[in-house]
Amino acid sequence: MELVWNGKPTAEVLPTSPLAKVEQIGGGDRNWLIWGDNQLVLPALLEQFQGQIDLIYIDPPFAVGNNFTMPLQIGCTPETAPKVLAYQDIWDRDAYLSMLFERLTLMRRLLSNQGSIYVHLDSRMSHYAKVILDEIFGVDNFRAEIIWKRTTAHSDAHGYGQIHDNILFYTKSSQFTWNRLHCAYDSNYVMKNYRYHDRNGRRFMADNLSASGLKGGGYHYSWKGKFGFWRCPETTMNHLDQQGKIYYTTSGLPRLKRYLDEMPGKPLQSIWDDISVISSRSQERLGYPTQKPEALLERIIQASSNPQDLVADFFCGSGTTGIVAERLGRRWIMVDSSQMAIHTCRKRVIELYRRLQKQTKPDHGFALYRTGNSPAPAGMPLFKAQPIYQDRTVDIQIIEFLPPLSQDLEKLREQPIANGLDFIDFWAIDFHWQPGQPFQHHWQTYRTRKNRTLKTISDRGHSYTTPGPHTIAIKVIDAFGGDWNFVIAITQGC
Ligand SMILES: C[S@@+](CC[C@H](N)C(=O)[O-])C[C@H]1O[C@@H](n2cnc3c(N)ncnc32)[C@H](O)[C@@H]1O
Repeated sequence: MELVWNGKPTAEVLPTSPLAKVEQIGGGDRNWLIWGDNQLVLPALLEQFQGQIDLIYIDPPFAVGNNFTMPLQIGCTPETAPKVLAYQDIWDRDAYLSMLFERLTLMRRLLSNQGSIYVHLDSRMSHYAKVILDEIFGVDNFRAEIIWKRTTAHSDAHGYGQIHDNILFYTKSSQFTWNRLHCAYDSNYVMKNYRYHDRNGRRFMADNLSASGLKGGGYHYSWKGKFGFWRCPETTMNHLDQQGKIYYTTSGLPRLKRYLDEMPGKPLQSIWDDISVISSRSQERLGYPTQKPEALLERIIQASSNPQDLVADFFCGSGTTGIVAERLGRRWIMVDSSQMAIHTCRKRVIELYRRLQKQTKPDHGFALYRTGNSPAPAGMPLFKAQPIYQDRTVDIQIIEFLPPLSQDLEKLREQPIANGLDFIDFWAIDFHWQPGQPFQHHWQTYRTRKNRTLKTISDRGHSYTTPGPHTIAIKVIDAFGGDWNFVIAITQGC
C-alpha cells in the first residue's frame, strides 16, 4: 500500500551543498550544529554518516498554517513588540508531504542497522506520515505510536479540545537498541496495593509466601508454629526474618514485605501523560516557539540509545535534543534552517557547558557548520572596538554597535534604549583568528532571559606567546539573530 499525492517525488533528488565549518566551541568537534535547510544538509551528511546515526528524533513543523515568532528583548527592557520570526509553518499539503517524504528517505539511509526514528507530529499530519513511514521503513518496523498528552484542557469552542501530540516510532530493522523504561505507579494503584508502612514510614505490599497452587513447587516445614508449604527454603525464610523483611498478619501468617521504593515502577506505556508542556513560567523556557520539554527527550534518548551513541535532530529548533543527548553522554548532530534557532541552540549548549565545567564534568565541544546557501546579511552595522592592554595581557572593549534596522524596526529607536550596545545579545572573541579558518570561541558573553546584563569588556586577560602584531576576530550576534564578524589588528609587546 502506498500514499500518492500530486508531485510525490519519484526518484531520490540529492541537491548538494558542501558544509563549511565556521565556528568551533570548546575542545572537540564530536558534536555538530548545522545551520541550513535539511534538504541540502541531509545529502551532505551521507558521505560521513551513512549508516552511522543511532537515533533520530524530529519535530518538524506541523503544518498549522501560522508563522512562529519569538519575543524580542533589547538590553534590559522587557519583551517588546515587534517579535522576531523564528520559522514559517504555512504549507500546501502536497508540498508538505513531499518535504517529509524526501527527508525521511534520506534519514533512513543515515540510520544504523540498530537505529530508531521518532517523528513528532499532531493529528493534522500524523496519519499521512504513518503511511509514508510504512512505505520507507516497512510496516514491520513500526514499533509504536506514542500519545503525548501535553496539556490538561483546551477550550476549542467548536469541537473536542486537542490536547495531545502523536510520536511515531520506527526502527531500521528488527534488531534495534531498546532499554526498557519505567515510570511511577498511579496513586490509586499504590494506595490499593502498598497499604502498609514500616516503622520508618516506608510503604510496602505484603506479598504471599505460601506456595500452594504454584506450579513450580515449594518447601514443607513449620515456621513459627505454622506448618505450611512455603515459597522459599527455611534458610531463606530465616535470612528474610533477620532483615526485618517479613510481615506477620494478625493470625501470625508470614508475608513478604515488598517495598515500593525498591520497585522499578510501571513499565512505560504508549500514552504519556506525566510530562508537561513548557509553560510561560517554566524554568526551561527559552522563548523559542514550540520548544519541547527536556523530560520528553530524556525518555526517548534513554529508551532508544546508549552512551556514546550518535543522536540527531534535523529540525532542532531550540536544541532540546542536543542538550539532553549531551547530558546523557551521547554524541549529537542538530540542524535547523532558522537563524534564531541556531542562535538559541548555540547559547543553550554553551550555558550547559558552563554548568558542566562548574561541576568539573567534561564538555565535549561542538562545531558550527553552514551550508553554502545561507543568506547573506543585509546592510552593515556600526561597530567600534579597542584593545585594552594590561600586564602583558590583552582584552577587548566594544565601544559602539548598532545593527542595520529594517523600516518596521526603526520605531525601536524611540524606545528607552540606552545605546546601540543594548542590541547586542551575544559576543565572542577569537584571539588567534586566521583568514579562512573557523572562528574559535576563546571567550564569549551573552544575555539570558533571566540575566539581561552584558559585559562590554572581555575578562579573559589573553596573553600571546610571541610579541608583535596579531589579528583578533570579534563575533557579535544581535537581538534579531544577525551574526556579524569584525576583525581588528593589535600589537602585543613582550
Ligand atoms: C517544531 S520546531 C522544533 C522545536 C524543537 N523540537 C525544540 O524543542 O525547540 C520545528 C523547527 O524546524 C525548523 N525547520 C523547518 N523547516 C526546516 C528545514 N527545511 N530545514 C531545517 N530546519 C527546518 C524550523 O526552523 C523550526 O525551528
